[in-house]
Amino acid sequence: MPWSESLSKKIKTKVNLAGYTSFKIGGRAEYFFEPKNLKELQQVLVSAKQAGLRVFILGAGSNILVSQAGLSGLVIRLSSKDFRKCSCLGSCIVAGSGLKLNALISFSKKKNLSGLEFLVGIPGTLGGCLMGNAGAWGKSIGELVKQVGVLDYNGKLKLLTSKQLKFAYRKSNLNKYIIIWAKLKTHAAQKKVIVVKISQYLLRRKQSQGNNLPNAGCIFKNPGQGSAGRLIDICGLKGKAEGGAVISKLHANFILNTGNAKSKDVLSLMDLMRKRVKERFKINLEPEIKIWE
Ligand code: EPU
Repeated sequence: MPWSESLSKKIKTKVNLAGYTSFKIGGRAEYFFEPKNLKELQQVLVSAKQAGLRVFILGAGSNILVSQAGLSGLVIRLSSKDFRKCSCLGSCIVAGSGLKLNALISFSKKKNLSGLEFLVGIPGTLGGCLMGNAGAWGKSIGELVKQVGVLDYNGKLKLLTSKQLKFAYRKSNLNKYIIIWAKLKTHAAQKKVIVVKISQYLLRRKQSQGNNLPNAGCIFKNPGQGSAGRLIDICGLKGKAEGGAVISKLHANFILNTGNAKSKDVLSLMDLMRKRVKERFKINLEPEIKIWE
């Protein structure tokens, strides 16, 4: 055991990760830890570094595919209250990275602050969304970010200002850090205006993506300006199944777990989608989901 005695009582071993992912797929983590606060997080990072362990930061588990074979290393989930705090600072919101996006949007609605509505329905945590610059309807969360508080993998705190932050389509320069909190730009608005926007965005999402089986959102990034879903659809792959996984009939960039899908089923559908799109359009699809193996 690489941990101090106080930590080792709190760190779980062989934890099944399927239940922590929206795909409901995956094997066991060698070590699993939900730190109570920043200090515990810093301690565990130092120990993991000394022991040469790989560290995975798990948010809402809504954009990952975990290997059925499990993961060697340490999975950290920032689920405790300390990582889910939320407050107003003028017309900005400062929120912990472990907060779910929908909780953040509820908070902004309560405070009559507008600007986050387009993110409604995205199932991730703030940290996960920032890492991958999540977005919808032509906008992305990076556009709202003023500051981000991060830890490096040695446990050292750092403040990143908007000048140091780089966001591009489904991409950020936050990968080498663990996101702790972020300050987001919003603006005052009437509650009824915010409520209408939220329900309009939710309806649009339901119409185009209303999948009720476990999934991880869009599997591939959109190439250039086009929709990966549209390309996969034209290739006639909707409804194509492999083991317990199936390509959604509603939106072809979604793979659904019909009950007992394994990571290899999803990977083999992804290979097929990539191969067909490459053959037909000469376009290389790049995964949007993170594959943990
Ligand atoms: N389309 C098809 N067939 C399909 C899917 C889509 O013909 O199977 C067509 C639609 O009819 C529409 C066009 O393709 O004309 C675009 O579709 P959609 O509005 O669903 O957008 P998208 O480009 O496929 C992107 C994001 C989604 C985001 C939506 C809405 C990516 C990879 N996907 O999808 O994000 O919710 O726009 O803004 O950027 C995600 O990141 O996980 C995700 C789902």
